[in-house]
Amino acid sequence: MMVDSEDTPLLHIHDIQAGYGKISVLHGLTLDVYPSEIVSIIGPNGAGKSTLFKAVFGFLTPRSGSVWFGKNNITSLTPEKILKHEIAYVPQERTSFPDMTVEENLQMGMYVVGESVRMKPAMQRVFELFPRLAERRRQTVGTMSGGEQRMVEIARALMPEPRLLLIDEPSAGLAPVINKQVFATIRKLNMDYGTTILMIEQNARQALEISHRGYVVEDGYNRFNGSSKSLLHNPEIQQMYLGGTPRL
Ligand SMILES: Nc1ncnc2c1ncn2[C@@H]1O[C@H](COP(=O)(O)OP(=O)(O)OP(=O)(O)O)[C@@H](O)[C@H]1O
Ligand SMILES: [Mg+2]
Repeated sequence: MMVDSEDTPLLHIHDIQAGYGKISVLHGLTLDVYPSEIVSIIGPNGAGKSTLFKAVFGFLTPRSGSVWFGKNNITSLTPEKILKHEIAYVPQERTSFPDMTVEENLQMGMYVVGESVRMKPAMQRVFELFPRLAERRRQTVGTMSGGEQRMVEIARALMPEPRLLLIDEPSAGLAPVINKQVFATIRKLNMDYGTTILMIEQNARQALEISHRGYVVEDGYNRFNGSSKSLLHNPEIQQMYLGGTPRL
């Protein structure tokens, strides 16, 4: 189900081919995200999901195809320029600064877009989303739990108030109770602040349950896509990605 009547996607990835050196990873992948949607990408290890985000965010130049943000062609722009388009990216790898405090990490999130006037309200906003970080604002990030460090990374990406958040496996390596909180926060970000979210997740069922739509990426292209509900009820997807247990 689409949540917005606008027919122009906020993000349109068109027939992208990309890879590393001689290795081709994405073989013509097309994907749309509409304003105010949460869209999940699921698929096996090595399918090219993270490569897709790197190609969108300018860390990897696509060999062909294009990436559009609204009406702007953002194909092959540098990550710095893409940030200015109000897109944020939380990579799969851990990226917080361990020797800095929570507050300093969040400030870094604002410096990357060269803004300082919005610092206070932006920090207040992320502390509303992550009350746990507010309590620990002066703690050194390297001493925090894995789940808390993941929250710092997400919070840092949200400092410039992006319109679109690309988030690669937010729940990876977290205990079930913590990943529930992370999913709840992503949902709150979407519902309360209207942020559009494109999320890669191994935790397919939980991801689809909070998403409007989903894509199944296999071997560098998009094998299935549809409403989350239709994907959750697709027997083939249930078998491959949802533990094979149909749920009514
Ligand atoms: N920097 C790199 N240089 C060479 N090959 C790479 C590089 N990064 C990724 N690859 C290869 O590209 C393919 C796709 O990797 P990618 O990280 O996009 O997969 P993924 O779908 O995100 O997998 P996972 O679910 O394990 O995170 C893999 O075969 C991987 O080995
Ligand atoms: Mg990955």
